[in-house]
Amino acid sequence: MNIENSIFLQALNKKKLSTPPIWYMRQAGRYMPEYRAVRKNFKNFLDMCKNPEVCCELALQPINAFNLDAAILFSDILTIPDALGLGVKFLEGEGPVFDNPIKISKDVINLPDFEPDNLSYVYKAVSNIKNALPKNIPLIGFSGSPWTLAAYSIEGRSSKNFEYTKSFIRNNREEVHIFLQKLTDACFIYLKKQVKAGADVIQIFDSWANLLSRKDYETYSLNYIRSLISKLKEDQVTASIPIILFAREPEISCNQMVEVQADCLSLYWKTKDIDLAFLNGKVALQGNLNPEILLQEDSVIKNEADRILKQFKNYDGYIFNLGHGITPNIDPDKIKLLTDHIRSR
Ligand code: CP3
Repeated sequence: MNIENSIFLQALNKKKLSTPPIWYMRQAGRYMPEYRAVRKNFKNFLDMCKNPEVCCELALQPINAFNLDAAILFSDILTIPDALGLGVKFLEGEGPVFDNPIKISKDVINLPDFEPDNLSYVYKAVSNIKNALPKNIPLIGFSGSPWTLAAYSIEGRSSKNFEYTKSFIRNNREEVHIFLQKLTDACFIYLKKQVKAGADVIQIFDSWANLLSRKDYETYSLNYIRSLISKLKEDQVTASIPIILFAREPEISCNQMVEVQADCLSLYWKTKDIDLAFLNGKVALQGNLNPEILLQEDSVIKNEADRILKQFKNYDGYIFNLGHGITPNIDPDKIKLLTDHIRSR
C-alpha cells in the first residue's frame, strides 16, 4: 500500500467515501500514558520539541495505538516566535509564556529576520516521522496562522480575552501589519521546508480567530491566511499539497471562508448552520465532534458520532475529526471506542 491508497488524501481531493478517514486534533499528548512517560524526561516542553527522535516517537504513538488515517508532526505552533527570539517557555498549568514579548511598537521594528534554519529540528522531525510511518499514512505538517502567532507574541502568554493584544492592534496599526507580513513570510518558508522534508498535507491553525470582530478578522487574519495560501499554491514545491484551515469560532461563515482557497475547512465544534449544499464540491470538510463528549459514557459518544456521520453522509470529501483538540482529561479508551465505532458503520 502506498500513499495513493490513502483515504485521507482521497477525501482531501473531495472524494465521497463510504467510511471517512479519521484523525484527531492534538492526537499526541498528555491524555496518553505513553506520552507522559516520555514527557517526564524533559523540564521544558520546547526542549522536547527540539529533539527530532523524540518527536518521531511521539507522533507515532497515536498511530500505533488507534491505527489512524493520518499522522501529524509533533511540534508546536510557537516554534516561529521562539525562532524570532521571543523566548517561548511552557509553564506547568499556565501554558506558553514569552520572555521577550512584543510590548511596544519598536519591538516589531527591532525583530531579527526570520532564519528558517533555526527550525531545522522541525524539518528533521518531519523526515524522521515520514520515514517511520507506514507508506500509506500521510503526514500533516502545520503552522499557526499569522494572526494567532501575533496574538501570542503580543500578549506574551495565553489569556482569555487577549486584552493587551486588542489594545496594541488599535494603537499600533502600522507595526502590527509589518509584524503580520513578517509572520506570513516566515510561515510560508517554514511550511515549504516541512513539505521538502516529507509533509504530505499542511494544516494552518487560526486558534484565536474568535478574538476579532468580523471586519477586523478580515483585516488582521483572513488577509494574511489568503496571502499565505496563495504563496503556497504558487510555489512549485507546495502547489499540489492539500491545505486544511482550522479557525476557532470566527465571526464569518464557512461559505465566506471558502474564498481563501484552502482545500479543506476544519470545523470548530460550535460551528452552526453549515451550508453543505453550497460547500459541496468547493472544499473538503473535517470535524467536528465536541471533545467534551469524550468525557461521557459510551452510548452518548456513539450517538453523537452517528449524528455527525449522518450529517456528512453525502458530502464529497469528509474527514472525521474533533471540533478542537483532545484534552488531557480524556481516557484513551474513549478514542479507541470512537474510532472503532466510526469504522464499523
Ligand atoms: O498530535 C498533536 O497534535 C501534537 C502536535 C501539536 C502540539 N500543539 C503539541 C503540544 C500541535 C498540532 C499543536 C498546535 C498548537 N499549539 C495550537 C493549535 C491547536 C489548537 O489547540 O488550537 C496551539 C494554540 C498551540 C499552543 C500551545 N501549545 C498551548 C496553548 C499549549 C499549552 C496548553 C495545552 O494545550 O497543553 C501548548 C503545549 C502543547 N503543545 C502540548 C502538546 C502535546 C502539551 C505540553 C506538555 O506536555 O506540557
